[in-house]
Amino acid sequence: QEDFFKNVISHAKEYGYIFASSEIYDGLSAVYDYGQNGAELKKNIKDYWWKSMVQLHQNIVGLDAAILMHPTTWKASGHVDAFNDPLIDNKDSKKRYRADVLVEDYAEKINQKAQKEIAKAKKRFGDKFNEEEFVTTNPRVLRYKKEEKEILERLAKSLTDENLADVKALIEELGIACPESGSKNWTDVKQFNLMFGTKLGASADSATDLYLRPETAQGIFVNFSNVQKTGRMKIPFGIAQIGKAFRNEIVARQFIFRQREFEQMEMQFFVRPGEELKWFEHWKETRQKWHASLGLGEENYRFHDHEKMAHYANAATDIEFNFPFGFKELEGIHSRTDFDLKAHEEHSGKKLRFYDPEMKENYVPYVIETSIGLDRMFLAVFSASLKEEELEGGTSRTVLKLPAVLAPTKAAVLPLVKKDGLPELAHEIIEELKWDFRVQYDEKDAIGRRYRRQDAAGTPLCITVDHDSLEDKKVTVRFRDSMEQKRVDITELKTLIQQEVDF
Ligand code: GAP
Repeated sequence: QEDFFKNVISHAKEYGYIFASSEIYDGLSAVYDYGQNGAELKKNIKDYWWKSMVQLHQNIVGLDAAILMHPTTWKASGHVDAFNDPLIDNKDSKKRYRADVLVEDYAEKINQKAQKEIAKAKKRFGDKFNEEEFVTTNPRVLRYKKEEKEILERLAKSLTDENLADVKALIEELGIACPESGSKNWTDVKQFNLMFGTKLGASADSATDLYLRPETAQGIFVNFSNVQKTGRMKIPFGIAQIGKAFRNEIVARQFIFRQREFEQMEMQFFVRPGEELKWFEHWKETRQKWHASLGLGEENYRFHDHEKMAHYANAATDIEFNFPFGFKELEGIHSRTDFDLKAHEEHSGKKLRFYDPEMKENYVPYVIETSIGLDRMFLAVFSASLKEEELEGGTSRTVLKLPAVLAPTKAAVLPLVKKDGLPELAHEIIEELKWDFRVQYDEKDAIGRRYRRQDAAGTPLCITVDHDSLEDKKVTVRFRDSMEQKRVDITELKTLIQQEVDF
C-alpha cells in the first residue's frame, strides 16, 4: 500500500498533474500546484459536479462569494471559538501532530488487518466465498472490527475541550509512537485554531483582522436573502459554490488529501423545518449516485454515519473513499438545522427568513449541506484509475484509466511517420476536433511508445493516421482500456469521441 501511494505521487508529478508548491525553493508543506494535466482534470471534476448539481436542477443556483468576509461572520458561525484541532507534540522529535489523526491512523491499521483476512479468505474460497457470512462469523475479523470500533468511539467521546486528557491517555494506552522517530514521549493535548488570519488596511493601527475563509459555506449563508429574493427562489431550493478554503492544518502528510489551501464544492439546500431528515436521505442517495456514475468501483466507497454530532447538526454522514492509505472522508452530508442562518440573524440584526405562501408563515429555513473536497475527489479519481497491467507476452503497462468524461486530453492524434503528408492530415483532424474536445498532437517516438505514453497520461483514445488514410480517409482509433483498435471514417471521429466522453 505504501509503495502504491508513492507511485501515485510520483506518477502525478511525472505526467504533469501535481507539483509541490514553489518546488524550486524546496516546496511549502501541505500546499500543492496543479500542472498542465492536473489543471484540466480538476476543471473537468468541477464541471461534472456543477453540471449535475446546478445545470440539472431547476431549483439550485450557483454563487461565487469572496474569500475575504466580514470578521463577524466567523464569530457567528462558531469558527472563532470552536474551529480547533487537538494537537500533541512529541517531546523528543519536537514534531507536532493532530492527536485525533494519530488515533484514527492506528484504528485504520487494525481495519486493514481485517481487510487482509477477508482478502486471504476470498482467494482461498474463490467463487464459494460469502463475504457477509465471513465478516460476521470469523473470530479474527470480529476481534479486529470490535477493537477498531471501540477505539474510534473512545476517541469521539474524548474530543471535547474538557476531555482532552483522555485523548492523551488513549494514545499512551495504545502505545502509539511518533511516526518520524518512534518515540512515545508525548506532551499534553492542546486545542489549536485552524483559521489563517490576515489584515485589511494599510497602516498597522487601523488594520482590521480578517480570516481567509475556512469553508465556502458561510458565503452562501450570508447571501441567502440576496439570492432568494433576486432569484425569486421558493423553498426547497439550493445554492451551490466551488471555491478555495484555507486551514492551518497541523498535519502535513497524505499528499493533497489534507492541504492548507484547498477547494470545496458545497451546496446548501434550504428546506421547511421538519422536512430536513427527508431531504437529508434524498441528498445522501443523490450524492451516492453521482459517485457511482463515475465507475470508480462501488467497493471503494462506504458511508460513515456520525453517532456524535456537532451541536448544530441533527444528522450527519461521511462518504468515505478507499484512498491509497485506507478509507477516509471524501464528502460530508450534514443536516445543519437553522443554526447558521439564525446565528447570522443574531449577529447582523438582519432577518434571514422565507415567507412560505403555502404555509402562510415566515420561518428560518433548515439546511442540508453536501460538501466535497475537490482535491480529495481528484486524489480519489487519480488513485483509483492508476493501474499496472500484465500483458500477453510477459510485458506490462502503466495505465491511468480515468473516466473519459474527466480525462484532460480526450484524444491524441498520431501520424505514423513524420513525413509523406501524414503530419499535415493529422493537423487537419486536430483543427476539426479542437472546437469540441481537448486533443493533442504527438509525432515523437515509435507508435507503440506513443500509445504507452498516452495510456500513462490517461488519454482515452489515440487516433493514428497512416499512409492508407491519405487514400481512404479513414484512421485507426485505439481505445486505452481495451487496447482494441478499429478503422473509422475521419468524418465519424467527432461522434465517436462524443459517445466516449459523454456526461
Ligand atoms: N462546510 C462544511 C465543511 O467544511 P468539512 O468536513 O470540514 O465540512 C468538507 O469539510 C470537505 O472538505 C471534506 O469532506 C473534505 O473533502 C474537504 N476538506 C476539508 N479539509 C480539507 C483539507 N485540509 N484539505 C483538503 N480537503 C479538505
